[in-house]
Amino acid sequence: MKKIAISTGGGDCPGLNAVIRAVYKTAKNKYGYDVIGIEDGFDGLLKPNRIKYLTSKDISGIICEGGTILGTTNRGNPFEYKTVDKNGNLKVHNYSKRVIKKLKELEVGALVLIGGDGTLKIGKEFFELGVPVVGVPKTIDNDLMSTDVTFGFDTAVNTATSAIDKLRTTAESHHRVMVVEVMGRDAGWIALEAGVAGGADVILIPEIPYDINEVCKKVIERQKRDCKSTIVVVSEGAYPKGAGKIYLYTKDKAANKRLGGVGAKVGEDIEKRTGFETRVTVLGHIQRGGSPSARDRVLSTVFGSMAAELAHNREFGKMVAIQGGEYKIVSLAEATDKQKLVSLDDEIVKTARRVGIELGD
Ligand code: F6P
Repeated sequence: MKKIAISTGGGDCPGLNAVIRAVYKTAKNKYGYDVIGIEDGFDGLLKPNRIKYLTSKDISGIICEGGTILGTTNRGNPFEYKTVDKNGNLKVHNYSKRVIKKLKELEVGALVLIGGDGTLKIGKEFFELGVPVVGVPKTIDNDLMSTDVTFGFDTAVNTATSAIDKLRTTAESHHRVMVVEVMGRDAGWIALEAGVAGGADVILIPEIPYDINEVCKKVIERQKRDCKSTIVVVSEGAYPKGAGKIYLYTKDKAANKRLGGVGAKVGEDIEKRTGFETRVTVLGHIQRGGSPSARDRVLSTVFGSMAAELAHNREFGKMVAIQGGEYKIVSLAEATDKQKLVSLDDEIVKTARRVGIELGD
């Protein structure tokens, strides 16, 4: 084995470049492998001229940079590759054999796949077809099993928390209710942690369908106590009891469904029912951008370096992880079996209730 390839898949997040750097430094500088960067996720193996041999220049100074120097995509699953023809018909192709052929042509001895549950599930499928895959858990959503935390999450929580801090000062000046919609897909981790860190009064997460009456009760109670403002943090996957999740409209048939809009609904419902002036802010992709926190840089560096070690030791079908403060190696199958959602027994959930945060149930 002479070559190690790296691919970043799914939504970008802070810390990707720090992982790429650590894989390169360990694989090239310690063991002497050539390190190939595959551009734009699996697309780089399906389209021409998307492969590059990384050099020390490529990885110099990138530990503090957001995004990914390799590019990424969250719609390029080679097993179910979606295209739309001239007549607007959706077509689904299985390009997995093309990927395997390309990796063989390139003489890749190990593929370090940096991704969230979608990308790593694809990695697991390729591993079962004989591709030497090593996984690194990435996502701001923190919804991957088998690891306490994914890199990117800490930075996203810090970003959301500092936004809440800023919104609080304007909310207090105007005596307003401020609704903040944060990302997280089907998991409420960002809302929960940023909400607690930002001193929110209400936190709504997908794991606890909410009752708007309970939310409004809290708003009215705070107004009666002459509180200067009320901060409501809403996860994009939150939804009212008895209803479904809210998605954004898209014309693009090949695109994945995107959550969004629940913040506006909560804001409108609060204003209608309580009469209090309410504003809504959707943080959106700001949470995915920017320089990784120190915690994420360390996590990414350890994960990247461990992944290179796994590749060197030919331990494939595995993912690097952290559990109870200890770095571990887990199987890709176990890590991608199901999503890690917020448990109602989680100490942060219990704490939120104890300190008087309304969770909407
Ligand atoms: O999985 C990361 C994430 O940012 C989710 O929190 C969010 O729902 C989704 O990606 C947004 O995806 P896109 O970049 O396609 O808008």
